[in-house]
Amino acid sequence: MNRKNLTRRRFLAAASTGAIAVAVSGRIPAYGNASKTAGKPAILGGKAIRTKPFHGWPVWDKSAEEHILSILRSGNWYRGRGETVTEFEKKYAELLGVKRCICTMNGTNALLTAMHVLDVGVGDEVIVSPYTFIATYNVVIGSSALPVFADTDPETFQINPDKIEQRITKRTRAIMPVHILGLPANMDRINAIAKKHNLIVIEDACQAWLAEWKGKKCGTLSDLGCFSFQNSKHLPIGEGGAVVGNDDEIMDRVHSYHNCGRPYGCVERTSRYPIIGTNRRMTEYQAAIGLSQIQRLEADTEKRNKNAQYLTSRIKGIPGILPHRLYKEVTRAAYHLYPFRYKKEQFNNMSRDRFLAALRAEGIPCSSGYGPQYKDGLIEAALNSKNFKRSFSKARLDRYRDELHYPDNDRLCEEAVWLSQTLLLGSKSDIDDIADAIQKIYENRDKLA
Ligand SMILES: Cc1ncc(COP(=O)(O)O)c(C=O)c1O
Repeated sequence: MNRKNLTRRRFLAAASTGAIAVAVSGRIPAYGNASKTAGKPAILGGKAIRTKPFHGWPVWDKSAEEHILSILRSGNWYRGRGETVTEFEKKYAELLGVKRCICTMNGTNALLTAMHVLDVGVGDEVIVSPYTFIATYNVVIGSSALPVFADTDPETFQINPDKIEQRITKRTRAIMPVHILGLPANMDRINAIAKKHNLIVIEDACQAWLAEWKGKKCGTLSDLGCFSFQNSKHLPIGEGGAVVGNDDEIMDRVHSYHNCGRPYGCVERTSRYPIIGTNRRMTEYQAAIGLSQIQRLEADTEKRNKNAQYLTSRIKGIPGILPHRLYKEVTRAAYHLYPFRYKKEQFNNMSRDRFLAALRAEGIPCSSGYGPQYKDGLIEAALNSKNFKRSFSKARLDRYRDELHYPDNDRLCEEAVWLSQTLLLGSKSDIDDIADAIQKIYENRDKLA
């Protein structure tokens, strides 16, 4: 909807509710519930739109307690002596429609495992989005590969496919798209680029449980997909992760590697001893929690999607509020976060920090999201490390520093507003509270700026 139409529509709405004098004076009247959005902003001492908390997280199902106790009592606490991890892996693979799933103790280690098994490591370059949780950077650096960023598309919050090819060099070995915030990245474009340049694709789906691209689940659209089941996640276990894939040989290698290099499937001993491996196994207790949590994932995902769509419909007309755009191929998002961009110009230049504070004062938890982390010391420390100096030429590292500018990402970091997934788990009236609070701040922008 363009701004011109909006203004006209608001004017008509104002006229029909008898608020024409206000509209003529230039103040846009309430788009939502006028009785709620009228009045002093809470940050200035007025009554908050909302005083009760939103949905809590995680949600514990009491019926699962007996299962955990039975594992405790059995003494079979690790996967080598139980069946629970295997059962959870089967269920999660079924849910995703993927052939195999191997659990790890967290998402970071799922990604490290995928990198190792696909032989992405020392001296390689991996294309990633700068707009992600720091673990994505860490696993690339931790594998002694160079994280090469492709700028972010501020509308979708995802890696911009138009910016990927210009980052490819002779050393590029993989692309690691992140379905950040639980919104799918453009997998058709990414896979096409990867195919053209013979690159591996590892999906960081650590925030994207049951998100879908053209009806297929995120994490199953590439060579390997990785998930996190950390406490805040939609399938929360406290800590936990998974690698999923359709290629039996690769998945046998994942199994073997995560289990100290013990033979598995097609992976055989090369001597009396195991092959190279590590221990990234999930415990039986973790899997028991996972089995309980997995039961609510589908219904929660549906609810988040419905509420997210409703929220978008409520706030997209507020000047200066730009909800995220989903690609048309997205059949479902996971909504780990609900993001929108805040344009202060339409709010009488009220800073984003002030907007966030005003929204919180109205009882709506919110945050500004990721900052431009690629500018932090982490990257420079990696470039200066012995490892990197040995693996990359000085000329390459100098050029890398010169190219470390991502203007679209930086702008997004300045404008983003995030609402947590838990806000999407409530009723329609919870969503109305969010929209009304934003509307109220908009209407009071002159007093607040
Ligand atoms: C995008 C992304 N990648 C990787 C990870 C790492 O997962 P974990 O915290 O389970 O190690 C997370 C976790 O928050 C994440 O959000």
